[in-house]
Amino acid sequence: MLKALVTGGAGLIGSHIVDLLLRRGYGVRILDNLEPATHFEGRPGWIPAEAEFIQGDVRSTDDVRRALRGVDVVFHQAAYGGFALELTKMTEVNAAGTARLFEVIRTDGLDIKKIVVASSQAVYGEGKYECAECGPCYPEPRPLEQMERRDWEVHCPRCQAPLKPIPIDEATPVKLIGTYHLTKYFEERLTLALRREWGIPAVALRYMLTYGPRQSVFNPYTGICSIFSTRLLNGLPPVIYEDGRQTRDFVFVEDVARANVAVMESDAANGRVFNVGTGRPTTILQFAELLRAAYGAKVTPSVPGQYRPMDFRHLTADISPLRSIGWEPEVSVETGVQRYAEWILSMKRPAEYFTKAEEALKRARVVRQAGKDDKRD
Ligand SMILES: NC(=O)c1ccc[n+]([C@@H]2O[C@H](COP(=O)([O-])OP(=O)(O)OC[C@H]3O[C@@H](n4cnc5c(N)ncnc54)[C@H](O)[C@@H]3O)[C@@H](O)[C@H]2O)c1
Ligand SMILES: [Zn+2]
Repeated sequence: MLKALVTGGAGLIGSHIVDLLLRRGYGVRILDNLEPATHFEGRPGWIPAEAEFIQGDVRSTDDVRRALRGVDVVFHQAAYGGFALELTKMTEVNAAGTARLFEVIRTDGLDIKKIVVASSQAVYGEGKYECAECGPCYPEPRPLEQMERRDWEVHCPRCQAPLKPIPIDEATPVKLIGTYHLTKYFEERLTLALRREWGIPAVALRYMLTYGPRQSVFNPYTGICSIFSTRLLNGLPPVIYEDGRQTRDFVFVEDVARANVAVMESDAANGRVFNVGTGRPTTILQFAELLRAAYGAKVTPSVPGQYRPMDFRHLTADISPLRSIGWEPEVSVETGVQRYAEWILSMKRPAEYFTKAEEALKRARVVRQAGKDDKRD
């Protein structure tokens, strides 16, 4: 029986990897510090008794050493991120935490057979587009003065024409435009570099926007599905940035868990980076409407013209490489939202933390209010 370590195994993606591994007969150990921003009410009930749980921190060498002892394979999911304001902590957990895993593996001479590391769509920056005149391009993030004018679409860097988004393939050049983006890229590069240096098979997965049951309902900085849901369930409208027509590739958490196990069990995946998504774009307005309908809520979303500087406009994954190793996304966004809604409705009504966090984000200018919309006045 292979013994797997899942760091961050109490969280959204990690916990579904844990369940899947147990079903497949792996022995499972979890290392998770139960980050209070994510697990405000402490240890979640979904950590299975069959898994060994270590409450510990990837920032502690002792905890990491304890977690790695006797382990064959590692799924490294622990991270701190999103739009949180603590950049130092993000760097220490994500970048240094990953370095620490390898440091312990090397200093202790551990026989780790394979590592899968969680990277992110965030590495792509604004992504990949096509201009009818000039062809494919990789634009910079939209300038602030453009967003202030509520001109939300991305323009061709050469001729300024509006661009058509095209699916992101893994060869798209990365654009590292913030701390979280940098730390995720550091994680994937370090993992693949050490694979070459030490010969440990390794794979990096770039998850698109992942949602599903167990997404924290406490952390107001990550997780649009929970942020919108807790607003709706408290009779408040979801606050939608830009005009709501920006698109994301929403991938259901169980599909992401299956992708982890698929690359772990495929030698053909070794040394490679894969997108994990559905290949299908959904606008934020459509996603909000699916949630509203699932709860039978009466409120309509608020679209006040706020935006996050450096946010990307459209991102959808090309998933053909992951398909080629035998993985397929199975859960549509309609079904996934339904599954999430059933989960959240089965709990006591969650409080709503977004409104307070939004004030902090506005003070820190992570979220901004665009100027007056001339077209509406
Ligand atoms: N959810 C998404 O849309 C998404 C997209 C791209 C990448 N990712 C990546 O996927 C991974 C899992 O994310 P998730 O969505 O499941 O988030 P999550 O917050 O639900 O889970 C992360 C888990 O890591 C734990 N953790 C945080 N800091 C830790 C530390 N210092 N030591 C040990 N454990 C710690 C948390 O307690 C939590 O249980 C992360 O690496 C994240 O960067 C997520
Ligand atoms: Zn052009």
